[in-house]
Amino acid sequence: MGRVEGKVALVTGGGSGLGAADCEALAREGATVVVTDVRIETAQRVAHRIGNGAVALALDVAAEEAWIATIQAIEQRFGRLDILVNNAGVVLNADVEETTLEQYRWVNAVMSDGVFLGCKHAIPLMNRNDGGSIINMSSTGALLGYPIFFAYSAAKGAVRSMTKSIAVMCQEKGYKIRCNSVHPGSIETPMVQQAEGRAGQEQAVPEGVLKPGQSGHPKDVAAMVLFLASDESRFVNGAEMVVDNGVTIRPF
Ligand SMILES: NC(=O)c1ccc[n+]([C@@H]2O[C@H](COP(=O)([O-])OP(=O)(O)OC[C@H]3O[C@@H](n4cnc5c(N)ncnc54)[C@H](O)[C@@H]3O)[C@@H](O)[C@H]2O)c1
Repeated sequence: MGRVEGKVALVTGGGSGLGAADCEALAREGATVVVTDVRIETAQRVAHRIGNGAVALALDVAAEEAWIATIQAIEQRFGRLDILVNNAGVVLNADVEETTLEQYRWVNAVMSDGVFLGCKHAIPLMNRNDGGSIINMSSTGALLGYPIFFAYSAAKGAVRSMTKSIAVMCQEKGYKIRCNSVHPGSIETPMVQQAEGRAGQEQAVPEGVLKPGQSGHPKDVAAMVLFLASDESRFVNGAEMVVDNGVTIRPF
């Protein structure tokens, strides 16, 4: 029996990096995964690879009508939604002085509006069955002061706060829905390769215990997502789960 056997999961930005690793872990442990991405061909590749009934759908998380259509499609096909992983993201290397209003709105449209819309439209479908688990991908950017990730950190801070608001609302309304945020440190994905100016050049992540400053592997975050998605985490709600090999607790 898999850890999320029989559950239906929707993952945004599932075509790459952390999202793809989340899809793989959830399918391996028995979930039927709806792999979504604004780049449909990447979602299709992941759905094909992970199997277990996975399907791929195009979803731009910043577009409300796309969310409504996606949730309707999942209801028609599966009749339920148990797990939502709001993972889609973009990065912008710019401090507050360099960031234009247009850039700020774009980053926040994807990562702040996108998470808001996902939660808003998924909760009613989750509620029509057994409730569920919402996992919102934030970042250590929500916890530390990175000058160069200004808009990114603002969006991730919004994700951290809205997660707690949703968790408490669900409790107060008697919904069986938990909502937690995940805060990874640097993880070797195309996003980090782009942010570090080495797009397309993947670096190997060693096995075993990593040194401070080394990037983690997408599977290190997927392990946390899987735990939060499963009923094993039933007493974890509104929490900020930091997955950063201790970066945020170092005194200097
Ligand atoms: N890699 C890290 O070090 C790291 C650290 C902390 C948080 N995160 C967060 O994890 C998440 C995944 O990042 P990643 O490193 O895997 O990046 P990635 O670039 O490999 O993947 C991001 C995915 O999101 C998709 N996407 C972009 N805009 C979208 C939109 N409007 N609608 C739907 N999908 C869209 C992309 O097509 C891509 O498949 C992001 O939210 C990111 O901020 C990553």
